[in-house]
Amino acid sequence: MRKLLILTIAIVLPSLLCITPLDAKKPPRKKAYVHTVVEIPAVEPQVIAVQTANSSLVMQVDGKGVLRMCHYGALVQDPSQFLSYSDGYICDNDPGPLAYPSAGGMFTWRPALEVRYADGSCNTELYFTGCEVSGRKTVVHLKDYVTALTVDLVYEAFADEDVIVSHTEIYNGSKQAVTLTGFASSYMVLNAREYLLTHFHGWWAGEMQVDREMLGHDTKVLESRRGVQNTQINNPSFLVSLNTREWSETSGEVVAGALAWSGNWQIALEQPQTGLLNISAGMHPASSAYPLKAGESFITPDMIYTWSGNGAGQASRNLHRYARRHRLYGGSKVNPTLLNSWEGAYFSFKTKTLTDMIDDAADMGLEMFVLDDGWFGSDYPRNGDAAGLGDWEPNLKKIPEGIDYVASYAHSKGLKFGIWIEPEMANPESNLAKQHPEWLVQSPGRENYTRRNQWILDLSNPAVQDFVFGVFDNTMKLSPSIDYIKWDCNRLVMNFGSSYLGEEQERFYIDYIQGLYKVMRRIRERYPDVIVQCCSAGGARVDYGALQWFDEIWASDNSDAICRNYIQYGTSLIYPACIMGAHVSTVPNHQTGNITPLKFRFDVACSGRLGMELQPKTLSPDDRALADRCIRSYKSWRDLVFEGDLYRLASPYDGTHYALMYVSEDKSRAVVFAYCLKYITGLTASPVFKLDGLDPARRYRVTEQNVDASCWWGDGQVFSGEFLAAGGFNPRLNRPLTSAVFYLEAER
Ligand code: GLA
Repeated sequence: MRKLLILTIAIVLPSLLCITPLDAKKPPRKKAYVHTVVEIPAVEPQVIAVQTANSSLVMQVDGKGVLRMCHYGALVQDPSQFLSYSDGYICDNDPGPLAYPSAGGMFTWRPALEVRYADGSCNTELYFTGCEVSGRKTVVHLKDYVTALTVDLVYEAFADEDVIVSHTEIYNGSKQAVTLTGFASSYMVLNAREYLLTHFHGWWAGEMQVDREMLGHDTKVLESRRGVQNTQINNPSFLVSLNTREWSETSGEVVAGALAWSGNWQIALEQPQTGLLNISAGMHPASSAYPLKAGESFITPDMIYTWSGNGAGQASRNLHRYARRHRLYGGSKVNPTLLNSWEGAYFSFKTKTLTDMIDDAADMGLEMFVLDDGWFGSDYPRNGDAAGLGDWEPNLKKIPEGIDYVASYAHSKGLKFGIWIEPEMANPESNLAKQHPEWLVQSPGRENYTRRNQWILDLSNPAVQDFVFGVFDNTMKLSPSIDYIKWDCNRLVMNFGSSYLGEEQERFYIDYIQGLYKVMRRIRERYPDVIVQCCSAGGARVDYGALQWFDEIWASDNSDAICRNYIQYGTSLIYPACIMGAHVSTVPNHQTGNITPLKFRFDVACSGRLGMELQPKTLSPDDRALADRCIRSYKSWRDLVFEGDLYRLASPYDGTHYALMYVSEDKSRAVVFAYCLKYITGLTASPVFKLDGLDPARRYRVTEQNVDASCWWGDGQVFSGEFLAAGGFNPRLNRPLTSAVFYLEAER
């Protein structure tokens, strides 16, 4: 009755009051709005499991085609038991732990995928359309149920290494372009009481510093927006220890992840009220809304995951093994020891400086000489960092005999020869920058800021890709005796802009890195055996994307052995020692001013790929003798550093010592490194290092290297693996900057 009255007043009152509608004309009749909903075909509920030797990643498809993640953790031999598994919180405003959530539908957390369609709408809801398994690969097909956008989730299981690598392939099957505004490589859901996150921070000369924090309810975002130099201030990798507040090398569940991408990246760890931890990882979408034309696909980089039930040590070993066997360009190939000219000569050298260094390197038993920056540029000679980058012809004023002369000289002394390039860059003071301003990364009308007096070239442009490939190719042609290239990249991107990309500027960050990878692919096709080091002002490009093309990295421009403990420890959490260039330099150290004993410097550098970076003439005869000795012993067991399993025994962050060891796969040999970083009194008992990874039943002869008088009472004797693991190994290292290296060999 009341309703009827209101209706009558609404109809009658305006005419009684003579209200004239604003638009006196009759409004056009609107079509009745009919909301039709596309029906999703019912699917057979099923379980999809990606299995490794010790871990399972289990997803579940419900009858409506919703793909949820149920489990990433310990191996479940019969994953079909997850068919009706529930996390218990699914409701009418939360679809539960989706395996690859897109923005849209009921999902209102941080999505893995975001798409803007041609009509401006931004909703995507992915439904399961099928799954294929072949060999180690599982591909899960998903489709938006309204548009023709399809998404394939590709998982690769590396059973022996307990590693699962995933990426996503997004295909625009519609007739119109779409824009991708979020495109994670992978999405992971963990379920634990609490989460201890370990990640990295740093700066030039201080990379891979370790940060640990408990994750609260909210989102922790790790990211880089620097375009290139993507790992200078952090690293696209992390470890999460589950159900604990304590870091442990040996116990508890740990999930570690690393993204294989050298550009802008983002890893978001989101813990909503559900208590689950949602991790989306991939290229950074900032300023990178990516156009996908009709019929085009977008393939994301790989995200590498491992799960360990035995603490962080096992998680690192899994990643290392996977990297050596399946990811690194050079695998665990032993790279040569070397003398690099940089800190010993910087820009000031002539031919004789170099040939003298080569003589000294050969004398000390090193295996390669690397000519660093400063050898090129004739109109704009590279005599400092303000000129010459881009002009890659040799500077004949410095080396009138030419590069081939120096390279051949190295070969004649039994050394390999390497040379430095920085092909992605140009100094304003160079012919290149003056002749090809259109090749520079710059934004119209805006300042093109220099960094280290240089600009960056636009690798999204195929012409620049050709040029950069040409720099490598032409450098190789300078001499048939070039065995090694040190590829540097000393600045980040600022005020990005590409004259090549026209109106599609937002492609820049992604196309740049894809351009770099294209160049590297060409290089590898032509020069499969050249050793290529990835340097970026030290360790600013250390990721598993780059490492598919490069043989090793320069971990940091900081060669101070004290600081190196922290940098190398951090690096070891994710990356294997075989890639880690570690050099002995002079004292006072050029970066920090610290004075450390030569023995300490060698012991630190010997836990990676050993090199030297100083003027050998400054070494006293005693120092030379020690250098000879350390290099000789290193060469006798370095295969353990390159191929062995790493066990960290003490962290430089947690006490007075840093200690680590590498053990051969068959557990017959090992090498142990221990360093004292802080003073402990003469009254304090010797530190105990519980050796790990040995066979408890076997007996090992333990011999200290590079000393006449050992710091351990048991030196030269034979002990069981059990004894050494139980706490019998306690070298007397109680003074700062003392260190020791022990070689262990099992008795036959
Ligand atoms: C960067 C590298 C150094 C050295 C210099 C040369 O800083 O990290 O190792 O090659 O460039 O300019």
